[in-house]
Amino acid sequence: MVKYPLEPYRIKVVERIRTTTRAEREQILKEAGYNLFLVKGEDCLIDLLTDSGTSAMSDEQWAGLVRGDESYASSRSFFRFERVVKEITGFTHVIPTHQGRASERILFSIMGGEGKTVPNNTHFDTTRANVEFSGATALDLAIPEARIPAEEHPFKGNIDLTALEQLIEEQGTENIPLVMITITNNTSGGQPVSLENIRAAREVCDRAGLPLFIDACRFAENAWFIKEREPGQGDRSIAEIAGEIFSYADGCTMSAKKDGLVNIGGFLGLHDDELAVKAKNLLILTEGFTTYGGLAGRDLEAIAQGLEEVLEDDYLTCRINQVRSLGEAISEAGVPIVKPTGGHAIYIDARAMLPHIPPLEYPGQAFVIELYREAGIRAVEIGSVMFAHRDPETGEELPADLDLVRLAIPRRVYTQSHLEYVAEAVRAVFERRDSIHGVRITEQAPMLRHFNARFSPLEDK
Ligand code: F0G
Repeated sequence: MVKYPLEPYRIKVVERIRTTTRAEREQILKEAGYNLFLVKGEDCLIDLLTDSGTSAMSDEQWAGLVRGDESYASSRSFFRFERVVKEITGFTHVIPTHQGRASERILFSIMGGEGKTVPNNTHFDTTRANVEFSGATALDLAIPEARIPAEEHPFKGNIDLTALEQLIEEQGTENIPLVMITITNNTSGGQPVSLENIRAAREVCDRAGLPLFIDACRFAENAWFIKEREPGQGDRSIAEIAGEIFSYADGCTMSAKKDGLVNIGGFLGLHDDELAVKAKNLLILTEGFTTYGGLAGRDLEAIAQGLEEVLEDDYLTCRINQVRSLGEAISEAGVPIVKPTGGHAIYIDARAMLPHIPPLEYPGQAFVIELYREAGIRAVEIGSVMFAHRDPETGEELPADLDLVRLAIPRRVYTQSHLEYVAEAVRAVFERRDSIHGVRITEQAPMLRHFNARFSPLEDK
């Protein structure tokens, strides 16, 4: 069989992307304080900052925008959206929201609170922030393999069931409002969670009488990995596998900006009637009426269509193999990456690649700068800049556990040749890695500093 990750779509509309000269990029970097968040999108030839809200929509989705019913209440588009989400997830209540974090905010406003602990395989930043904002503690319980970048494991996103049971025993169920599983596990490298692990987590929850929630942003990519890797799953459809995943859950939060194949949108899926009433009351307060939740009718139409398209086998096969082939093209050259490659991104281990740069001279940021300088490619540091924390006693800055760089691949946006260009650029930077210097921070905000910090290259010292 031909293995080439052929895109199962052809191009109908194109968007110009701009090549800059090295001298221009040098100037752009300087003006942006060497922070890629501060570089203009149009100055990026290939933008791998995120796979969130960056998908290319299909002709059918664009047609859906025109078909969108903009009635304030109970629009036709809502009912189509609700029907598709119910068909895929089986949830009794489907509450639209403007994006994933709005669903999280509503869920944890109701279920979080002081003294409570919410376990997850790994909380995504906004999930953690919403849990903590409610006063509760967000606890990561990924399996130990998840913390070792080079360790191969077919389901490296799994939740550690022994640790989960231990937590329940120690804390008692009254202080654990729910258990969450993020599929795929973004923070640990876009790694999938097995059906067996979700089923077993359900059993743990049943024994303890706790609800299980899924952070479903990349549910279709996760289902594809289950089909490929889990014994006995190869002959099932993605929709069947996704249906089984959701059948173990009491609810889900969803950012449709990922596997909804749209640029904005999300939802909260629930079975519990009482919880749904509370969630809808909060929804009306900040998002909008229960049948639009902060979205336009056309957005609901595009999500419904996107959710049908994302389950197509040929789309997912191309998607995951695109990511995999980029991973292989750079790891064969010796670039250390998180293995195995996950669903939506390649994570480069910048600390391993640049051992001469100490963590507090930010090897991840140094690599991100160099990749832009080399080829106009925007990636994101996920390391000591992003996860800054301080020793509570001395106030001294402490490095993050890992210094990674994420190359997130937007859905249906780039072709195989774009990714070959990316691979070539990464290899070129890797080859001259010994000459790369660290950076120091010259300006930073007290929180979430990665968005606005300014840096200065250390060779200019
Ligand atoms: N959960 C996961 C696992 C995510 O990856 C994200 C977003 C969210 C929740 C929040 O969704 O952005 O729609 O509010 N991840 C993006 C990223 C931002 O770049 O990984 P949102």
